[in-house]
Amino acid sequence: MFLWALFLIALTASYLSFIASGNRYLHRTSHRSAGGLHWEKQIRSSAQIRRKNGFSVLVTGAGGFVGTHVSLALNKRGDGVVGIDNFNDYYDPSLKKSRRNILRSKNVFIVEGDINDQRILAKLFEIVKFTHVMHLAAQAGVRYAMENPNSYVHSNIAGLVTLLEQCKSANPQPAIVWASSSSVYGLNDKVPFSEADRTDQPASLYAATKKAGEEITHTYNHIYGLSITGLRFFTVYGPWGRPDMAYFSFTRNILQGKPITVFRGKNGMDLARDFTYIDDIVKGCVASLDTASKSTGLGGKKKGPAPYRIYNLGNTSPVTVPVLVGILEKNLKIKAKKNVVDMPGNGDVPFTHANISLAQRELGYKPTMDLPTGLKKFVKWYLSYYGYNDGKGNSVNS
Ligand SMILES: NC(=O)c1ccc[n+]([C@@H]2O[C@H](COP(=O)([O-])OP(=O)(O)OC[C@H]3O[C@@H](n4cnc5c(N)ncnc54)[C@H](O)[C@@H]3O)[C@@H](O)[C@H]2O)c1
Ligand SMILES: *[C@@H]1O[C@H](CO)[C@@H](O)[C@H](O)[C@H]1NC(C)=O
Repeated sequence: MFLWALFLIALTASYLSFIASGNRYLHRTSHRSAGGLHWEKQIRSSAQIRRKNGFSVLVTGAGGFVGTHVSLALNKRGDGVVGIDNFNDYYDPSLKKSRRNILRSKNVFIVEGDINDQRILAKLFEIVKFTHVMHLAAQAGVRYAMENPNSYVHSNIAGLVTLLEQCKSANPQPAIVWASSSSVYGLNDKVPFSEADRTDQPASLYAATKKAGEEITHTYNHIYGLSITGLRFFTVYGPWGRPDMAYFSFTRNILQGKPITVFRGKNGMDLARDFTYIDDIVKGCVASLDTASKSTGLGGKKKGPAPYRIYNLGNTSPVTVPVLVGILEKNLKIKAKKNVVDMPGNGDVPFTHANISLAQRELGYKPTMDLPTGLKKFVKWYLSYYGYNDGKGNSVNS
């Protein structure tokens, strides 16, 4: 009897402390970003539409590379934009915070939160009747999947489902445009990659979660009438880019006089990528939003068929990694110390090459940036953002 009482007391105590810690969490986030009148006011003002028939768009991953650029473009033309990002430290969060500051200067607000947080999503949809969701939040990167597989499941699968659950029950349902990836083509070696090619041989967990996303969004389209557009991006680069990508880390290492590792494929073949400039990708994203028909569901029930679309967004002209390095050397006026090694079997594919005729036809997508010009713009941004250390300890900000 006494033991039972003790047990009950312990149980109650642990429950109370659970509640307390929950409240602490609530308090902390409400203080920082989520909840409160000021918070809601910022969201309403950020979502304000400033053009005729404009959209109100929830941009997930708005602190990310593509998310920031898309948010800026939508804001510029007068659409209302609200961002959400968890500012995780997969790469330097201070870069994400700097991007956030740019958006803030345009009155675009990014909610700090995780797309797995059903409560925050529900709150956002309660405050704003989003017409569209531009879903870009994800765990990106191919090689990191071997180090931290669960982060891919968390963001690219569980997070996606939480977001879709919110979208399907929203009234009205938003149309959804989201980022898949060229990596879904995996071991496909038929070039150029067309949307109808097989995508059932992923070479990395990252690719597998993106492929899963294509299947999961199909289900929500089929059952609930959500309008879905999946975009298979091909190696996006440009100012404010991602530090984990080769063109970015090569630039950093070359400037610091450090060697760079250049992978070579089978039989000494150079790796090649269909590098696509950020502004071209943004145009493809915006065109996808503009051409997406409405979702058809209501109250969580489908009322009629809704569109399910998939497009390649690439550049159609693959460039080998040694050529990429050559362009960087020319821009930086420094010779790279190259360490050429065979590509380990860790998820990278030897080449990518997009067939973009479908996006051309249906979205009017037409990339215009060549790699040398685009990299020149990237290097200019890099030097202005990080400054240039000339090796004599002098930091020169250009
Ligand atoms: N950049 C490319 O070359 C490329 C190529 C193919 C596909 N993609 C896809 O495009 C999208 C955008 O890529 P990016 O290059 O801008 O990457 P990014 O990492 O810069 O942006 C993603 C953002 O999402 C946020 N995020 C991640 N998980 C989250 C979560 N659970 N909740 C809230 N926020 C979360 C991150 O903090 C980050 O700011 C991603 O879906 C990516 O997989 C990118
Ligand atoms: C490109 O894709 C289209 C379908 O959108 C297809 O008809 C065409 O044959 C493809 N081109 C090549 C060269 O594979």
